[in-house]
Amino acid sequence: MELVITDSAAEAGVLAGRIMADHVRRGARAIGLATGSSPLGAYRELIRQYREEGLSFAGVQAFLLDEYLGLPPDHPQSYRRFIRDEFTAHVDFADSDVHSPDGNAADIPAAAADYEQLIAANGPIAVQILGIGTNGHLGFNEPGSSLRSRTRVKTLTPKTRADNARFFAGDLAQVPTHVLTQGLGTISDAGHLLMIATGTGKAEAVASAVEGPVSAFCPASILQMHPHVTVIVDPAAAANLR
Ligand code: F6R
Repeated sequence: MELVITDSAAEAGVLAGRIMADHVRRGARAIGLATGSSPLGAYRELIRQYREEGLSFAGVQAFLLDEYLGLPPDHPQSYRRFIRDEFTAHVDFADSDVHSPDGNAADIPAAAADYEQLIAANGPIAVQILGIGTNGHLGFNEPGSSLRSRTRVKTLTPKTRADNARFFAGDLAQVPTHVLTQGLGTISDAGHLLMIATGTGKAEAVASAVEGPVSAFCPASILQMHPHVTVIVDPAAAANLR
């Protein structure tokens, strides 16, 4: 595992964006995207490189980690809409090349299996950008998730729902209770895992993931089992590292 402590959160985002851009330039067929606030700096850097340096995503397939259950696809906080607004609509991604689990499917287990098949048919995912939950979740694999899990429904913990209420104008009641998420096994199939964490709120989770025991109780600790991992943190998120 490569651990990079940058001088600032802004630098962490730029570095993560550069690493993703390198994969795209080297011909990645598929890349993995995350939502939430952590990857936004990386997406800004990718948009900048698209506008100023000729970076192209034409023909690249993008796979989101997760999606809320029951939010209409055009809801501003559906992850499908979020990734379009924050990233893919600003570069030359075809909308049809940006994939997410179908959180509105009539048959959710079938939608999970379909998503696994879609990734398998278009993968491998060259690089997967990841945030980390304050409770150590990766994707929406909450503590206790099987280390070999595949895409499936998960119930969000009260902590995660409270953390994410900020995206729903602070109204906890609006935060969905369930999600479809790639499993820890699915995530681990990507060639390069790139985790970014900034701010003091992530310090404890980062230390558990990077230096703690590998355990289902800190799902992000599976990073320790993967052959190619880069963790990028700012000084605040690095504060609990030995
Ligand atoms: C988002 C995701 C989550 C977030 C995590 C951190 O697609 O899978 O694991 O990465 O909850 O969220 P932020 O970055 O908003 O702190």
